[in-house]
Amino acid sequence: MTDQRDIDNIDKLAANPNGPGMIGVFDSGLGGLSVLIELRKALPNADMTYVADRARAPYGSRSLDEVRAISRDIVHWMADRAISTVVLACNTASAAALETLREENRDLAFVGMEPAVKPAAESTRSGVIGVLATRATFQGRLFQSLVSRHAGATTVLSRACPRWVELVERGLVDGPLVEEAVRREVEPLLTAGADLLVVGCTHFSFLIPAIREVAGEGVRIIDPAPAVAAQTVRVATGEQGSGTLVLAASGDLAEFASLADSIAGIKTVAPVLPFPG
Ligand code: DGL
Repeated sequence: MTDQRDIDNIDKLAANPNGPGMIGVFDSGLGGLSVLIELRKALPNADMTYVADRARAPYGSRSLDEVRAISRDIVHWMADRAISTVVLACNTASAAALETLREENRDLAFVGMEPAVKPAAESTRSGVIGVLATRATFQGRLFQSLVSRHAGATTVLSRACPRWVELVERGLVDGPLVEEAVRREVEPLLTAGADLLVVGCTHFSFLIPAIREVAGEGVRIIDPAPAVAAQTVRVATGEQGSGTLVLAASGDLAEFASLADSIAGIKTVAPVLPFPG
């Protein structure tokens, strides 16, 4: 999703005599850690700060205006901390706020996310794809425009799965509760002929093994996390840092630290910072 503003931002950052700043990554909670894992692999020397705004999760059942206001708060907090590239590791925040954030913060580079409707429509054989995302993501103009621009003759079935966000926030990614919740959302898509499922919420990336279990090997699942990391490599200039990772969270800090480790294997020596602090 590079646009001319990203390119302008790269030039500005490259011209910054203080060198590159940190990469800031945010989500409503644990979901964006799926993106952080890929970012750490792609840019091992970049300094990163991850914000998990768990006190205000889930974003998916909030209005787009609310999510936009929240995203602004987070970006202001990041801009005060020498963050020069912001990754919205959240489809909902991207749907609600990416355009506005770019317009309001021309000195920052942004990487956002969108459900992979285009590649899915290009590779479905059955002509039916399922998109798994939040209610707010489906309500945004971004999703409507993706469907009208790229779906063509493909039938796009959308499925909001609020329960999945809740499960992942509790650190539950397998077991009977998860299997039942996944089956409830995925089976109707399979019955309707979907041969490809688009993961359109970063929390759901942690449920891919459970989704695969229900959907079977014949159904392709598109996980956006690696593509977001690849886009960040193109946009960010922070790869000459020292690989520092700062975690920040609203809500219970110890619980977040423990879940980040158990769900994503992400640990830091430093204590989790309180957000907004
Ligand atoms: N992880 C987020 C997304 O990608 C939002 C989940 C939520 O807070 O509802 O959409």
